[in-house]
Amino acid sequence: MTVHMKAAVCRQYGPPHVVTIEDWPIPVPGPHDVLIRVRAFTVSSADWRIRSLSIPYGFGMASRLAFGITAPRQPILGSELAGDIVATGSAVRNFAVGDAVVAFSGAKLGAHAEYRCMPADAVIVHKPPALSYETAAALAFGGTTALDFFRRGRLHAGDRVLINGASGTVGSAMVQLAAQTGAEVTAVCSGANAEAMQQLGAAHTIDYTRVDFAEQSTRYDLIADTVGNAPYSRVRHVLTPNGRLLLILATLPQMLGAMWVNTTSRHRIIAGPASERVDDLRTLVDMAVDGRFTPLID
Ligand SMILES: NC(=O)c1ccc[n+]([C@@H]2O[C@H](COP(=O)([O-])OP(=O)(O)OC[C@H]3O[C@@H](n4cnc5c(N)ncnc54)[C@H](OP(=O)(O)O)[C@@H]3O)[C@@H](O)[C@H]2O)c1
Repeated sequence: MTVHMKAAVCRQYGPPHVVTIEDWPIPVPGPHDVLIRVRAFTVSSADWRIRSLSIPYGFGMASRLAFGITAPRQPILGSELAGDIVATGSAVRNFAVGDAVVAFSGAKLGAHAEYRCMPADAVIVHKPPALSYETAAALAFGGTTALDFFRRGRLHAGDRVLINGASGTVGSAMVQLAAQTGAEVTAVCSGANAEAMQQLGAAHTIDYTRVDFAEQSTRYDLIADTVGNAPYSRVRHVLTPNGRLLLILATLPQMLGAMWVNTTSRHRIIAGPASERVDDLRTLVDMAVDGRFTPLID
């Protein structure tokens, strides 16, 4: 007999109302899988981008190939969750029924449901009791993106760092991680979010509705753009001679242009999808328990 759960199902690309709550078969774990009873998940920018197929210029066809030509191939969105293990496959040794966990399904999605089945060696770590399910569920998407881009962008203590879109999921993780590393952080956000950014560790804030950081004289060792409006052509003169530009959101022409810049100048442009690593999720869980990383929940 098939047992059902409730899931938020997206059967076509479109506006929010294409997502409906449906009965869906509870997945049955294979020998190497765990079945997680989901207690909390997030709705992230990745979910609305895939649902609406709002993809950076140049990646439309690649996205349809990756996510489904005419409709999402994985109709249950959601890339991060926290919950409890309720069943394990016969070969699973690292998790047991009853374990509380944090999981990042990433591009495989599937978190917007009452249950998510994942391989036991996927990006899953134990959730310490000190973390609520809600906080734990919100650690991975912004946090792993920030960690991966900072690793590729070689963030160092003492760097002067500007985060464009600082009050978003990725931006707020970047503000905290850069400040923790010992960087001097400038957060670009709307004025209403300036105080929150200072509490997260920003030394300076710029209200983008009043001031254009690209027209100021301050230069930065590292600029991270999570908004998509700070391409190299606009910000190159506010990068230091060895400056790095992290394009969290990049069009295909910008990514191709990055290869040219990286081979012909001392500047470095880093773009492309962030990696999904279990060690990064473990780091974020540890930081959250210590109070060094708090995901912003809207
Ligand atoms: N490359 C990757 O692997 C990867 C991974 C994750 C996300 N992403 C992409 O990164 C982008 C950001 O993701 P997110 O989840 O952080 O989005 P988000 O939570 O929606 O945050 C976006 C932020 O941008 C700010 N903003 C809007 N207009 C701005 C402007 N003109 N100047 C400065 N800030 C502005 C908003 O701040 P205010 O409220 O203060 O206006 C908002 O907080 C998304 O497009 C997502 O697709 C890429």
